[in-house]
Amino acid sequence: MKRIGMLTSGGDCQALNAAMRGVVKTLVNSEEKVEIYGFIDGYKGLIYSNFQMLTGRDFSGILTKGGTILGTSRTPFKTIHEPDKNGVDKVEAMKQTYHKLQLDCLVILGGNGTHKTANLLREEGLNVVTLPKTIDNDLWGTDMTFGFQSAVNIATDAIDCIHTTAASHGRVFIVEVMGHKVGWLTLNAGMAGGADIILLPEIPYDIDKVVDKIEERDKNGSRFTIIAVAEGAISKEDAKLSKKEYRKKMEKYPYPSVSYEVAAKIQEKTGREVRVTVPGHMQRGGSPCPYDRVFASRLGAEAGRMILDGQYGFMVGYKNREVVRVPLEEVAGKLKMVSPDATIVQEAKLLGISFGD
Ligand code: F6P
Repeated sequence: MKRIGMLTSGGDCQALNAAMRGVVKTLVNSEEKVEIYGFIDGYKGLIYSNFQMLTGRDFSGILTKGGTILGTSRTPFKTIHEPDKNGVDKVEAMKQTYHKLQLDCLVILGGNGTHKTANLLREEGLNVVTLPKTIDNDLWGTDMTFGFQSAVNIATDAIDCIHTTAASHGRVFIVEVMGHKVGWLTLNAGMAGGADIILLPEIPYDIDKVVDKIEERDKNGSRFTIIAVAEGAISKEDAKLSKKEYRKKMEKYPYPSVSYEVAAKIQEKTGREVRVTVPGHMQRGGSPCPYDRVFASRLGAEAGRMILDGQYGFMVGYKNREVVRVPLEEVAGKLKMVSPDATIVQEAKLLGISFGD
């Protein structure tokens, strides 16, 4: 008999359900008897012992369903050691729930913050298996996270739609793509949507270089320009500020987001009409794309196999087209960022895409 606790934590994404289904199908198809405890709303469910007993049937018919049947929430790692408002020690409470239910392991689906807490629970002696979810694809130790390809599809669709109206009106259009710290989603959707300029958190931009590109396109007879801007894109000047100086500047920031700042500056420098589109949380919503359904199912199956083998303390990752087991201590606390020297960036530049650098 295996007693499995399962939770999804952090921002949701497509294919969370597909991944959980993959784990559970693998377990129920084995000789082993299983009990599944689904914790509600991420680590909160584990802290406050809020769970539902689930069976294989609960995971039937959810392959194509977006979101997470368990619900999710953010439990920031930086405050994990602080007691909650009622004085509850969160880490101790999670351990107590685990031991009280006599769990054999926890299956945790999440992104960066989630992995820090998962690794902490491993250090505290709990058996943990994790699965890499996030539309940002910024988890260290895996070439791909599920949710990413679905989000690329949605952000690309947004850019495609903007393309036709930008062309009709001869306007400069900015599409703001999710990703505060990393630019994988913006880079991929930008390239897929044929953006002329792509601004990423990892490659600080110079607004004059952005304007140069728009004017060069004008001279060459292109009446419009499409700019894909990551939520966390940053100017060269701002990138030079210390964290404290930057925080101070942001306290009086007059724009709803960086795209509006870029738009205002372009408008000021060129006198051209600029429009901003923010697809926002749409990028995390809806059904997983076929790639993510297959990918999340494969990772889920491997997580199921690890549980049957009694192999804990790993994230199921993907390296060089193979599903692999990555030690949690190697994953936790590291971000996989876009290197300005990455071949994909160089190739984008060869295609004529400007990064404003
Ligand atoms: O989960 C990742 C992510 O979607 C980022 O791309 C985005 O910056 C952030 O979450 C948004 O967070 P929230 O859903 O809390 O607004």
